Amino acid sequence: MRLPKAGTIEVVPSVLSADFARLGDEIAQITSAGVSMVHLDVMDGHFVPNITIGPPVIKKIRKESDLVFDAHLMISEPAKYAEPFIEAGADHITFHIEVAEDPVGLIDKLHDLGCSAGICLNPETPVEAIASVAPLCDMVLVMTVHPGFGGQAFMPEAAKKIVQVREIVGPDIRIEVDGGIDTQTAPIVVSYGADTLVAGNAIFSKTDRNAAIEAIRRSFS
Ligand code: DX5
Ligand code: ZN
Repeated sequence: MRLPKAGTIEVVPSVLSADFARLGDEIAQITSAGVSMVHLDVMDGHFVPNITIGPPVIKKIRKESDLVFDAHLMISEPAKYAEPFIEAGADHITFHIEVAEDPVGLIDKLHDLGCSAGICLNPETPVEAIASVAPLCDMVLVMTVHPGFGGQAFMPEAAKKIVQVREIVGPDIRIEVDGGIDTQTAPIVVSYGADTLVAGNAIFSKTDRNAAIEAIRRSFS
């Protein structure tokens, strides 16, 4: 599966806030709401102070879903694990600039392996850190919370970096935003130029996920 071409605004549920005991059902629910992608947060307890899922879980849900699997690697050694995540079924892999030893090499490797590539920057990381590699990516991820946990408050200053990123990458590369996205903050990040909106808590804390996704869509259109 490929990332949808730039030009549409996508709401991308992050299953971090889903019920992991019923992950297949949760993904089926968001699929029926018409999303094209699902955001999979991978944490190693080292780069971030939390541990989540790895390739075995992704491999299992791959059998259940045709959504684009957007894997957000919050791990210290992304290059070491790129292949296992692709083999498990990741379609798009985002890694963090803060821990990338050879970001261009890793982007090339992902592309060679048939996976699209994303670079991510933490709230305190300046846009300059990704300026040379962002144009080589298929999507740039701007964090609007400190990575590690769902349900945190949106950081307005970090979101402003979207404007700078858009200037660098032009209209054809997606800009994803992750952290604290809901019906209040979605219109702000869309106005800055984001087109791929990750939302965890705003969707999975609601019983009606379909309605929650629809409410976010309405908030910016
Ligand atoms: C946080 C993760 C996010 C998280 C977002 O480290 O990268 O994807 O699930 O959750 P919300 O939307 O609840 O801020
Ligand atoms: Zn994420």
